[in-house]
Amino acid sequence: MTTATRKILVTNALPYANGPIHIGHMLGYIQADIWVRFQKMRGHECHYMCADDAHGTPIMLKAQQLGIAPEQMIEEMNRAHQADFGDFHVAFDHYYSTHSPENRELAELIYTRLRDAGHIKTKTIKQLFDPQKEMFLPDRFVKGECPKCGAADQYGDNCDVCGATYAPTELKNPTSAVSGATPELRESEHYFFDLPAFEDMLKAWTRSGSLQEEMANKLNEWFEAGLQRWDISRDAPYFGFEIPDAPGKYFYVWLDAPIGYMSSFKHYCATTGNADFDSYWKADSDAEVYHFIGKDIIYFHSLFWPAMLKGANFRQPTNVWAHGFITVNGTKMSKSKGTFIMARTYLDHLDPDYLRYYFAAKLTSRIDDLDLNLTDFAQRVNSDLVGKVVNIASRCAGFIQKKFDGKLANDLGEHPLLAEFQQAGETIADAYEKREFSRAMRDIMALADKANFYIAEAEPWQLIKDPANSAQVHQICSIGINLFRLLMIYLKPAVPALTERVEAFLNEELSWNSHQHLLTDHAIEPFKALLQRIEMEKVEQMIDDSKAANAEATAKPDNGELKKDPISAEISYEDFAKVDLRIVRIANAEHVEGADKLLKLTLDLGSETRQVFAGIKSAYDPAKLIGQHTVMVANLAPRKMRFGMSEGMVLAAGPGGADLYILNPHDGAKPGMRVK
Ligand code: 2FM
Ligand code: ZN
Repeated sequence: MTTATRKILVTNALPYANGPIHIGHMLGYIQADIWVRFQKMRGHECHYMCADDAHGTPIMLKAQQLGIAPEQMIEEMNRAHQADFGDFHVAFDHYYSTHSPENRELAELIYTRLRDAGHIKTKTIKQLFDPQKEMFLPDRFVKGECPKCGAADQYGDNCDVCGATYAPTELKNPTSAVSGATPELRESEHYFFDLPAFEDMLKAWTRSGSLQEEMANKLNEWFEAGLQRWDISRDAPYFGFEIPDAPGKYFYVWLDAPIGYMSSFKHYCATTGNADFDSYWKADSDAEVYHFIGKDIIYFHSLFWPAMLKGANFRQPTNVWAHGFITVNGTKMSKSKGTFIMARTYLDHLDPDYLRYYFAAKLTSRIDDLDLNLTDFAQRVNSDLVGKVVNIASRCAGFIQKKFDGKLANDLGEHPLLAEFQQAGETIADAYEKREFSRAMRDIMALADKANFYIAEAEPWQLIKDPANSAQVHQICSIGINLFRLLMIYLKPAVPALTERVEAFLNEELSWNSHQHLLTDHAIEPFKALLQRIEMEKVEQMIDDSKAANAEATAKPDNGELKKDPISAEISYEDFAKVDLRIVRIANAEHVEGADKLLKLTLDLGSETRQVFAGIKSAYDPAKLIGQHTVMVANLAPRKMRFGMSEGMVLAAGPGGADLYILNPHDGAKPGMRVK
């Protein structure tokens, strides 16, 4: 029986605004959406919030790479994310952005309260700084040799080869992944949140017994290792909110990200009037707040976030529910195998309810990973949803339509299956409530088997041959439709679009409590195919498209090149005009004795010649260069080299080795012409 109306606020982890949603993301959103739909069906007040996580260095750099303002990029991404979620029937009540006035206001408020309560400390730290980009480098933007095993090209926080973790300052021969420059160690004052001050409160929360077992274990490990102060500031340039009274210092993206849960809700309350913000977030709120997150961000949600809320005199989450990751066909999603599937690519080929059902059929309340085995996926959906559930309606509806004017019988008798199906509502509700969706789906399918067995045994298609059995056939088929209807009530949170078609067919909107009555003497609509079977061909096309999209992305030279070597800081036209570029004819090119990399070029400018040493030996046979036209920097100060003076520079693109390309002007350009 449904209890008193609860006030519930549900959130999903906020996706970063620098990339599209993929099916790995979808697991958590589908999980939370099913839970929210269930709560709403039960008549509870439940609000479902999300937003894009719009701040941070990767987002700032990605926008630079695309040559657009971060505001424009996050706006476009927000639209794309909302379209993907909407088309997967993830029905947020509000989808916002952390780059919003409400989020700025709440981040400042929380910070100021923490500061005034003495929970913010400052300390000068040393960090790697990119002198070319003039920015401090986050760990993931420093590359170098692993200090433990010496493997080349490792990130600043851990080694992919030996698994060692270290500080970026420990890397050997570090380079900035942003500009390629050698980083310098520089000092800067940082702001820290005093997490250890909240240890007792966090321990009490851990021992409350309501946390997932794996999460409580993780927390205990972290307590044993000792809680550390949390660095919440980043230096300019940074895309985020500036810290009040600290010019040039910004809130680290992870500080304002969870505050995005509150600010999305704040905007929703203000614009719809559907709920009262304070009654959900005040310290003594009686509302329930749940965060659905991935297992990789437990630390932020179970330590920093509750402590920040406590320190700023807001309520803490009722619970934080983590889920595992997905694998596809037993392994990590892979771009080359085509199993790194974007939400949009899936939607181009397959019905979202298929994936929603498959995830539901495998989800438990634990943090285990979930395998999307594509063959099993097709078989399971076809066998359960099409073969078992929809099949019940398709076996009965034709008779109701043709023989009984589309009306269900007035008297269903006292068939025990009806009562059994109705009573199952409470155990299925219990499974949904506890996020044991796989148990709910298993129970529903066991009932579907019973319904099919009942119809197979009753054989209405045989009975109908004798007109004397007409009333009996009417009753059997009406019982069949009722059993189908009860199953669809229970499946509604998981497969909303299928349910919508079923509701049109049944002429009735299904709520959870509608399982308490049966449909009698009720007109239904003619039966139309409710769900197509999954054809493996479509799954294969989806994989092919994913492979092709990946190949295209890696083949795009400018995307890849810009990533490796982003565009430099803006310069004025005056700065550019100082560089005097001229067309030259390569009058001579020759090897230089003793030089590994250099060719000696004689460049004809029309009325004068220059001698230039160019580091292009690895890519060019000098004989082939003679007579070609190219571009030189003509006003570069001459440089004395070991082999003689170099009086300028020729321009070439490429990383080096055989991959070097000098420029060729179009035909008609004459030596000495200025390039501008
Ligand atoms: O890990 C992530 O994808 C983050 N963008 C999640 C943020 S959740 C919340 F704290 F905002
Ligand atoms: Zn290593």
